[in-house]
Amino acid sequence: MRITFIGGGTMGEAMIKCLLTQGVAAPQDIVVSDISPLRRELLSKEYGVSTLTDNGKATEAADLVILAVKPQNLSQATEEMLKADSLPPVAMVLSIVAGANLDSLCRGLKHPSVVRAMPNMPAQIGQGMTVWTATAEVSQKQRERVQTILGALGEEIYVENEKYLDMATALSGSGPAYVFLFIEAFIDAGVHIGLPRDIAQKLVLQTVLGSTHAVQETGKHPAELRNMVTSPGGTTAEALLRLERGGLRSLLLEAVTAAHDKAKHL
Ligand SMILES: NC(=O)c1ccc[n+]([C@@H]2O[C@H](COP(=O)([O-])OP(=O)(O)OC[C@H]3O[C@@H](n4cnc5c(N)ncnc54)[C@H](OP(=O)(O)O)[C@@H]3O)[C@@H](O)[C@H]2O)c1
Repeated sequence: MRITFIGGGTMGEAMIKCLLTQGVAAPQDIVVSDISPLRRELLSKEYGVSTLTDNGKATEAADLVILAVKPQNLSQATEEMLKADSLPPVAMVLSIVAGANLDSLCRGLKHPSVVRAMPNMPAQIGQGMTVWTATAEVSQKQRERVQTILGALGEEIYVENEKYLDMATALSGSGPAYVFLFIEAFIDAGVHIGLPRDIAQKLVLQTVLGSTHAVQETGKHPAELRNMVTSPGGTTAEALLRLERGGLRSLLLEAVTAAHDKAKHL
């Protein structure tokens, strides 16, 4: 299967790396079109993929075209493809561009088989979470290919209704930034009470990782697990009171709602 990337930046590279390491594609299957000479040089040297500057040429004979440019560069990239009229009618297009909906992608490309996906940053290490949807014209076989490709980035979930993509943008797309902020502040708190930074970091990272696994593996509601570690009148109860007083729960609700509003209007 010939896979063409339009844009070989951070996410394009993350996808290429995962596809190659998981054995989903070989370097000779991948073509990358990017306007940046630095990116083209890096990708061909590091991964052995072919690189081009011409989006029209790059899509010739492609089975799958992955749109991985920034939202502000999308219309220019699709116009170039349209002008060249090179997108094979049987090809499938997979867009990871935030805010670009299926309808505008199909109209922009004059092409019916389009997948819209929202991966997230941990895809760079094969631990991503991708939510995706597709137009009715994407065949069952093509959907299975999408699952394999997005599965190489970590976990993937298909949703029938496109409105969930904007919600996923606010939750899992932007989510790593919220978690990084929490981790950063948690480590700083450890340092504040006197722990050496390296020890504070190790404690926090394993606590976040272990707690995530505990929710996954026990299948218990997070509140039930929280109650299990909160002794009456103890230290955890004291800390939780401060977190509730500070509005952590409602603040998170507001933050995700604000990100969702923004995603809907991109
Ligand atoms: N980063 C994330 O965590 C993340 C998560 C989910 C979804 N996304 C989505 O993924 C997309 C790509 O994000 P990114 O972080 O990978 O962006 P990026 O690092 O800026 O990569 C985009 C690449 O495309 C190149 N480019 C610009 N215009 C082009 C054109 N007309 N034709 C071909 N190449 C062109 C850029 O070159 P120049 O730098 O020279 O402009 C750059 O090398 C975005 O739409 C974003 O919404 C990103």
